[in-house]
Amino acid sequence: MSAASPSAAQPSRAVSELNLILLGPPGAGKGTQADRLRDDFNLPYIATGDMLREQVKQGTELGNSAKEYMDRGDLVPDEVIIGMILDCVNGGNCADGFLLDGFPRSVGQAEALDDALGKLDRKLTAVLLIEVPDEDIVKRISGRRLCTEDPNHIYHVDAHPPKKDGVCDIDDAQLVQRDDDKPELVQNRLDVYHSQTSPLIPFYDERGLLRRFDGTRSPTEVHDHIRATVATLRLEDQL
Ligand code: AP5
Repeated sequence: MSAASPSAAQPSRAVSELNLILLGPPGAGKGTQADRLRDDFNLPYIATGDMLREQVKQGTELGNSAKEYMDRGDLVPDEVIIGMILDCVNGGNCADGFLLDGFPRSVGQAEALDDALGKLDRKLTAVLLIEVPDEDIVKRISGRRLCTEDPNHIYHVDAHPPKKDGVCDIDDAQLVQRDDDKPELVQNRLDVYHSQTSPLIPFYDERGLLRRFDGTRSPTEVHDHIRATVATLRLEDQL
């Protein structure tokens, strides 16, 4: 199925743009799906984890304060993350929509986002929840490998191996494991997800925004399902 094309007649900002959130436990496949969806719908992609890792790499003040939390698999404090994300959402290239991955991760962050969008007369289109049971997560995360040139090039040693061992198919760069993908940290990341992030499921469900996807299907099947759902939402908004 091809991606829906933007409407020529834009009825109003609040209903014509695609403002999407990807939600799900660590390793659910949010980054994998984001890499496909942003091309389908031509959306700016904002991934808090990637942004924080870049800040850590550059040794910025923000990166240094985030690192100790990330190294434990804990959430970085709201004061570090909220301003960084709202600056992006309010920025020019997100005016026609965005795909958020990794934010919000708590009800406090969700309320901050709602406030910011409300002030701009904007609203969320949908929250795309990718569901994967805990027992599958450890296997997924331990096999994940990322490209050192572009973290959006994501592989798995079994489910999605590169053509040449340890080398990215797209830009020939080395593949590495993420620091927080060590097995001893994964359980804490899952605990943090269940205690602090999963309350967002009822939060968005009550607002009629939640769409659920079976993340145990193949990446292509998950993608087909999400893409069809988002295309339908866009069409409904344009009616
Ligand atoms: P972040 O980078 O956001 O990590 P995460 O949410 O734990 O998610 P992951 O990137 O681990 O997984 P994913 O769902 O993207 O899965 P992927 O597509 O790679 O955050 C890292 C840290 O930053 C946090 O712990 C926190 O400290 C901090 N942080 C970030 N945002 C924050 C916020 N808002 N507030 C506070 N702190 C914040 O897939 C995983 C693997 O599975 C891959 O190998 C892939 O190939 C494979 N795979 C994908 N789909 C499938 C499939 N359908 N079948 C089989 N295998 C699959």
